[in-house]
Amino acid sequence: MRLSRFFLAFLLAISPLQGWSQGEGQGGPLIDYGTRFLPAIASRGMVSGPEKLASEAGLDMLKKGGNAVDAAVATGFALAVTLPRAGNIAGGGFMLVHLADSDEQVFIDYREMAPAGASRDMFLNEDGTVDKRKAYNSVSAAGIPGTVAGLIHALEKYGTLDLKTVIQPAIDLAEKGFEVPAALHLNLRSAAKRLSRNDEANRVYLGGTGTAPEMGILFKQPDLAATLKRVRDKGFDGFYKGKTAELIAAEMRRGGGVMNTEDLASYRAIERQPVRSSFRDYDIVSAPPPSSGGVHVSQILKLLEPFPIEEMGHNSAAYLHLLIESMKLAYADRSEYLGDPDRTEIPVKALTSESYLDGRRALIKDDVATPSEVIKPGNVDDHESTETTHFSIVDQFGNVVTNTYTINFSFGSGIVVPGTGMLLNNEMDDFAAKPGFPNGYGLVQGEANAVAAGSRPLSSMTPTLVFKDGKPWVATGSPGGSRIITAVAQTLLNLMAFDMTLGMATSSPRIHHQWMPDMAMVEPGISADTVNILEASKHKILRSDSTIGRVNSVQIEDGWFYGYADPRRPGGHVATW
Ligand code: GLY
Repeated sequence: MRLSRFFLAFLLAISPLQGWSQGEGQGGPLIDYGTRFLPAIASRGMVSGPEKLASEAGLDMLKKGGNAVDAAVATGFALAVTLPRAGNIAGGGFMLVHLADSDEQVFIDYREMAPAGASRDMFLNEDGTVDKRKAYNSVSAAGIPGTVAGLIHALEKYGTLDLKTVIQPAIDLAEKGFEVPAALHLNLRSAAKRLSRNDEANRVYLGGTGTAPEMGILFKQPDLAATLKRVRDKGFDGFYKGKTAELIAAEMRRGGGVMNTEDLASYRAIERQPVRSSFRDYDIVSAPPPSSGGVHVSQILKLLEPFPIEEMGHNSAAYLHLLIESMKLAYADRSEYLGDPDRTEIPVKALTSESYLDGRRALIKDDVATPSEVIKPGNVDDHESTETTHFSIVDQFGNVVTNTYTINFSFGSGIVVPGTGMLLNNEMDDFAAKPGFPNGYGLVQGEANAVAAGSRPLSSMTPTLVFKDGKPWVATGSPGGSRIITAVAQTLLNLMAFDMTLGMATSSPRIHHQWMPDMAMVEPGISADTVNILEASKHKILRSDSTIGRVNSVQIEDGWFYGYADPRRPGGHVATW
C-alpha cells in the first residue's frame, strides 16, 4: 500500500524527524488510497481528542518545543473550558505516560476521593433503597476533585514547560470566549433541563434562560477564567486552598454536603504500577485499580487469545458469541474483586494470570450463551502470589500520553460552584451505594467498592498503551462509563487480531455486555442475520441506537503518526504537526 509520490514528498518535506526514526526508503505511511476511515497523518506531533480547540492547545505546546506531557496538561485544562460535559478541573482521572528517554511507563492516579465525612450508607434512604437524587445530583455526590493535582503532578515531574505556559490557552478560551461549536450547542441542548435546575449552572451555561446558546455565539466564562488564574499563580494551593477551596466548602455547607477545606487541602495525586499483560505478540500496559479497566481488558483479550477469531471473521456470530461470553466473565469478577487498592487488596495478578483465565475460559460453551445468573465471580484464592473523555498524544521525542478524565455523568452533578464557573463531579456514584445493587451505569458492585471515607471509587477508565516489538504502537482510551472497557477491548482486538487500520478499528460497530443486566447491547451496523444467530444461541440482545464509547487514539508505525477521533460523537479532532 502506498500514498501518491506527491503526497509522500509533501509529508517528507514537512518532517524533520527527531526522536522517531522512519525506516529509510520504505515509501511512507502504510495507508492506501481508498482506505475507508482514513486517519490523520503526521510525523512531529499529534493530539487526538474530543474537541478541536483543546487538541490545538495541546499541539501548540508541542510546537513550542514541549513534550507530550506538556501537551496533555494544556489539553486537559482547555477541555475544562471547551467541553464542559466531561472536560474538567473539578473531576478526576488517570494519565498513562510512556517516557522515551528511560523507556518506562508511569501511571498517575488523580481519581477523586471520598471526603473524611463520607460513610457507607450515606446514599441510602431510611427504607434501605438508594437515594438517586443524592447520589447523582447533589453536592454530596462529589468526590474531592483530583484533576488539578494530577495535571500539576504530571507537569512538574515529566513536563518541560511551566504551568503558566500550559494553562494559558485555557485561560484565554475562558476569558476571551470562543464561538459555540455544534457539539457544545447539542450537548447543552440535551442537558438544558437538568442544568437549569441549578441556578448557577443555568447562569453560566444557559445565560439564565434555561435554553442552550445558539451555535456561533461568543461564549465567555469569566468565573472559570478567574479560577484557572488562581491555579496559574499559586499552583496546587490556588485550587486546594484559599478562595477556590472556600467557595467549594461554602457550596457544600449550603447543600448539606460533607466535603470541607481540610479534605481539599489533603488531596494528593499518586503514581501506581500499571497493569501489564500481553495479547499474542503485543504487550499491553493499562490502568490498574482503582480502575477496573486494565484488569478486565487484559482478561477479555486473554480469554480470546487462543481462539481463531480472525478465521471466524470480524463481528461474525461465532466471534461475537465468544466476545460476549468473555465480557460476562470479566464483569462478574469486577462485581466482586475490584475497588480501591489502598483499602482492599485487589488480586490483580491472579485475575490476569494464565492459569486462572484458562479455568474461566473453560466455562465458555461452544454455541450457546450461559445466562449471567449462572456465571459467578471466579475463585482466585489458588492463583494469587457513563461521562468521561479521553485524549491521546505523541510527540517528536518519542513520548506518548494517554489520558482519561471525568466528572462522571455528562455535566457531572449538574451543580456549578457559585463564583468558580466549574461543575462538580458526581463520582461518589461510582462507589457501590448499596453493594450488590446497580449504580447509575447499571453496574453491580461489591463490598470492595462500598463508600468509605478517604477511598477512591472504582472506575472503568482505561487509558492504554500497546507495544509492538518493544516500541509504543498504539495509545488509546474512551469515555462511556461501564462501556469504556468493552470499547477499548474491541478497538485493540480490531487492531491486533483483525489487522485493521486505526480508522476502521475505531469506526467498526461495537457490542457491550457487562454481565448484569444479562443483555448484549449491539450498535447499528452489526448485521441483522448475525443478531438473529446470536438470539438463536440464547443471547439476549438489545438493539440500540445509542453508541458504545468514543475512542480517541494515536498509532505509531515506522515513525509516522496516525490519529483518529471516534466519529460516534460530534466535535472530535486530531491536531497534527
Ligand atoms: N465515572 C466513570 C468511571 O470512572 O468509570
